[in-house]
Amino acid sequence: MQDTMLNKLDLVIRGGTVVSGQDVVEADIGVADGRIVALAEGLPQARDEIDAKGQIVMPGGVDVHAHIEQVSATGLMTADDWQSATTAAALGGTTTVLAFAAQHRSMRLSEVVADYTRRAAAGAVIDYGFHLMIGNPDPLTLETELPALIDAGHRSVKVFMTYDRLSVSDEHILDVLEIAKRHGALVCVHAENHGMIAWMSRKLLAEGKIAPKYHARAHPRLSELEAVRRVIDLARLVGAPVSIFHVSTREGVAAIRAAVGDGAEVYAETCPQYLFLTADDLDKPGLEGAKWMFSPPPRGHADQAALWQGLRRGDLQILSSDHAPYAYDDSGKLKHGPDATFKEIANGVPGIGARLALAFDAMAHDGPRGLVRFAEVTAANPARIYGMAPAKGVITIGADADLVLWDPDQHRTLTDADVQDRAGYTPYAGCTVRGWPRTVLRRGAVIVRDAVLCARPGSGRMIARQTPGL
Ligand code: URP
Ligand code: ZN
Ligand code: ZN
Repeated sequence: MQDTMLNKLDLVIRGGTVVSGQDVVEADIGVADGRIVALAEGLPQARDEIDAKGQIVMPGGVDVHAHIEQVSATGLMTADDWQSATTAAALGGTTTVLAFAAQHRSMRLSEVVADYTRRAAAGAVIDYGFHLMIGNPDPLTLETELPALIDAGHRSVKVFMTYDRLSVSDEHILDVLEIAKRHGALVCVHAENHGMIAWMSRKLLAEGKIAPKYHARAHPRLSELEAVRRVIDLARLVGAPVSIFHVSTREGVAAIRAAVGDGAEVYAETCPQYLFLTADDLDKPGLEGAKWMFSPPPRGHADQAALWQGLRRGDLQILSSDHAPYAYDDSGKLKHGPDATFKEIANGVPGIGARLALAFDAMAHDGPRGLVRFAEVTAANPARIYGMAPAKGVITIGADADLVLWDPDQHRTLTDADVQDRAGYTPYAGCTVRGWPRTVLRRGAVIVRDAVLCARPGSGRMIARQTPGL
């Protein structure tokens, strides 16, 4: 590094333990023009200084699965808008989010993207991009709008294999995979077998089994396995990569591992709700269990162990939130009143704020390997797979200075009262985590200081993405 550059540092983050790629080093980080320009001990004094002694400096979290200011598969608007969701994200240590531009049945995709772009630009306090969610795969969408939007830099596409209002046929998934392959985008999939879920739900309702706990029974484990295998085979037919969202079962992980062993290009994520919750959480009096209802549902302890193993082995590369917030009142979970069946309750849980603290607690206290793995699954891998590297996801020279200073000794018990998003509750209430993000920087600007937000709504930027892939 030239001395002239070192003399022009805007900021030095001094004396922290820095998790940089595969290394954990004691180093200062020099920042100029919003980028990391130096990583070494003993950097010269800069205009601004942040003391990071005793703290762990991680790359800003990259959350590639969040539903923000979006009409859901059941037709309900999420509780959060762009400002509230990204505020909760920033306070939790996330500096980049990929959410959805959600096309429903009769909508024009280009108008949907324009609308989401306008709303995100007004509210976001962190950097962002969109997955193009295809719910109306008509010729205009597939032949004209989708290719143009991918070429414009929206380099991922989402399809649902279930939900009446959003699912698309295998034939249309093949179309989407082919277009995505040709134009350089990654297709992400909500993989559950629609027929199995509809059939199970009908039977349960006919037997009067309507409580939230039956949501878990209505989504049999086989429905995930069948759909995961099918969509991988659809992708293989086309010769395209595919990304499987929110893997919940042991069998799902095994199917992905087997397919990759067989040469398929498959990426996969899981989410905190599958690592820390089980189907038993749905079993509460009245409709209380609705707070833990999401799809696929939480499973059992053996599944949790398999998902952790999948993350360690790299079968699952990403830990996302699948933040889908609905308040526990008549604007959200209780919209259909006190006698609602499990089929009438919105699916989804908040998690954009809690994702990193839960993962840090579970992964980052086991020495350097745990710190590196945490950084990989929460930042580096999602950034790489979704075309945001090298700017996002790693602490390296040339990357955006998206940085989080974690205090490993701060313990916090998660409570509904402390929730920053607008769901108004957390499914993790009562969990105590070791470690908290005290200071968060986005492109070199402090956006969270001592766990308080100091960023202007609209200061987040849309990310120019490259063709995805590891
Ligand atoms: O239950 C969930 N995950 N709701 C959000 C929509 C989805 O399935 O991704
Ligand atoms: Zn989903
Ligand atoms: Zn989702």
